[in-house]
Parts: sequence; C-alpha cells; structure tokens
Amino acid sequence: DKGQYRHFMAKEIAEQPEVVGHTLTRFVDMTSGRISLPAGADFDFSRLDRLAISACGTAYYAGLVARYWFEKFARLPVDIDIASEFRYREPPLTPGGLALMISQSGETADTLATLRHCRAQGMKIGAVVNVPTSTIAREADVVFPTTAGVEVGVASTKAFTCQLAVLAALAIKAGRDRKVLSEADEARLVASLIEVPRLMAETLHLEPEIEKLASAFAKAQDVLYLGRGTSYPIALEGALKLKEISYIHAEGYAAGELKHGPIALVDENVPVVVLAPFDVLFEKTASNMQEVAARGGKIVLITDAEGAAHAGETFATLVVPKAYAFVSPLIYAVPIQLLAYHTAVFMGTDVDQPRNLAKSVTVE
Ligand code: F6R
Repeated sequence: DKGQYRHFMAKEIAEQPEVVGHTLTRFVDMTSGRISLPAGADFDFSRLDRLAISACGTAYYAGLVARYWFEKFARLPVDIDIASEFRYREPPLTPGGLALMISQSGETADTLATLRHCRAQGMKIGAVVNVPTSTIAREADVVFPTTAGVEVGVASTKAFTCQLAVLAALAIKAGRDRKVLSEADEARLVASLIEVPRLMAETLHLEPEIEKLASAFAKAQDVLYLGRGTSYPIALEGALKLKEISYIHAEGYAAGELKHGPIALVDENVPVVVLAPFDVLFEKTASNMQEVAARGGKIVLITDAEGAAHAGETFATLVVPKAYAFVSPLIYAVPIQLLAYHTAVFMGTDVDQPRNLAKSVTVE
C-alpha cells in the first residue's frame, strides 16, 4: 500500500527515519548506550585476521562504506568485492575467517554463489539481510537482520540505509571486541548513531528544494557525483540511483580522481553533485570542486551549514544537518535518493518498475 505517496520509492525514502530507528533498536542497548547484537548474532570479532565482504549493486556500496568503519574503528582489514567477481578473483581465504554477505532480498544469485564458495573454503558466513526467510539468511551461520520492512521499489533506498545502520553497529562491536575502542569511544559512537533517525527526518525537509533541481537534471546527458572517504561510496550510490530510474548516464568518482581523467567530460551541460560534509576532507574536496567550477560545471553541493559557509559559488547548495563524520553516509544518502526520484518523476519514467530491472536478481 502506497498510502499518501505517488510511488513506493517515495514512501520508502520517507520511512527511513522510522525503519533505521527500528533497526538500531535491535543492535543498540538504549539504556547502557552500548552495542548489543541480537540474540543468535552475538559474533565475536576479536580473533579475526580479515573480513571478506561481498555483495552486489547498492548492497555492495553499503559494504564499501563499512570497510572504512571496520578498518578505522576495529583495525580489521577488509577485503571487499562485487559478488560476481569475488570468486573468480580467487582471493586467499582464511578457513575460520568471516565472510560477510550483504543483501536486501537474500536471493541474489551472485551473492549466494559467493556464500557457497566461501563456505566450501571453510569460512564462517555472516549475512546482513532484510528478508529473514531468504536463502542467504537460511544458509548463513550468523544473520544480522535489517528491519527495513518490505521494499517494493526496485531502486533500493531504505534497505540501503538500514544496511549501513547494521554495519555501523557491527564495526563498533568489532572495535570493542578487538580492544581498539574504549568504553568512552563506544559510548560516543553509539550516541552519534542513535541521533541518525532524527537527522534523517530533518534532511527529508530538503525535498521541495531538491524537487526544484529536477528540471535541470532532466536535461542533462551525463551527471557526475563526487565524494571523498565514506562520501565516495555515497557518490557511487547517487549515480546508480539516478541511472536506474531516470536513465540518465551518471558516474560516481572519488573526488581526487577527477583530475586523472573524468574532468575531460565536464562542461556547462554537466551537473556535478559534490558530497562534502565539513570534515577533515572538506578542503580537499572543495578544491576539486573549484576545478569543476573553472570548467563551467554546474555544481550541486550537498554539505552542512559550515561547509556551505566555506564553499564559494555553486549552482545549488543543499544544506543537511550537521552530523558526526562517522554517520554522515546515512544522512547524505537521503538527498541523493530524492534527487534521483524527483528527476525521474519529472521525466515521467516508471519509478517503481524501471525498465530492464528486477527486484531480485536470481541469475548469475
Ligand atoms: C539498486 C538495487 C540493486 C541491488 C542489487 C543487490 O537500487 O536495488 O543494485 O542492490 O541487485 O540486491 P540484493 O540486496 O537483494 O542482494
């Protein structure tokens, strides 16, 4: 039931504060302010040498964000690959190590094949899944459930941010298990994580402003998305969302990579979405943004109030609430979803059922 919404995708974007909040209640003990994994999923990360993550599409981008978190908070090296490539790379796997699959549907053939491959190599299997009765959930040793509810729109939105919420909690737990994080560190990270639903709700208020950008985006042949650090995977996700539902060609790049080639594409017809929270990486990303501006690129900057104050001239600046750097991917996911959504609505495409795509991809 779409309720008051025109599309399931709109409803699912709007539901995120609630479902992310719900997912977090399964992973955070609200009284102690510490991570507490759900019953049956109390995995101990202390003895791992590495973590191997595989997933496809949007779920893979959630994994890319998680790599920064596991490496930073738990000093745990992470191997990550697209599930359809993982097996063929023949990565050296450690028997007894943890392979972590991320999947909304739990039925994605590529991810399932990787799960079986890793199991055959003697690895333990963890799965971040949204459908608890799915094949991947059934075959995993440990299930870390996202509770996004049924996701109908083919373009994943709320499942993605719930995956990020679970992965953030797991990275903090790993940091505690591996004695990288003190109790105070954990409390501080958890406190910033439980602020996320409120910050996401505030971010949704940008919708009318974002809707106004749709006509400019609808005219574009190509759109670039740039980000650094954990904003880089969000740039990739922004480009995927736009491609999927508006059929406009879009690419996400690490902001520093632009000058190594893609800047050749930039002219006054190319919107460039820059994801840049005012954090330690801001100055560098801002200078990449100047390179784009100098070539006439139409910059749409997504940042917080401080970033906006330091930014110079743009085509549009979307100001999201200030958040701890750690949780910014969950916040910045919202405007890129809304931008893709409103561009597609403006163009009149079938937003919930884009051409050539299926909700769950059960062939390799
Ligand atoms: C993008 C999208 C796809 C899926 C991918 C994996 O909006 O929905 O890229 O993320 O097909 O699907 P799951 O998570 O079901 O394994």
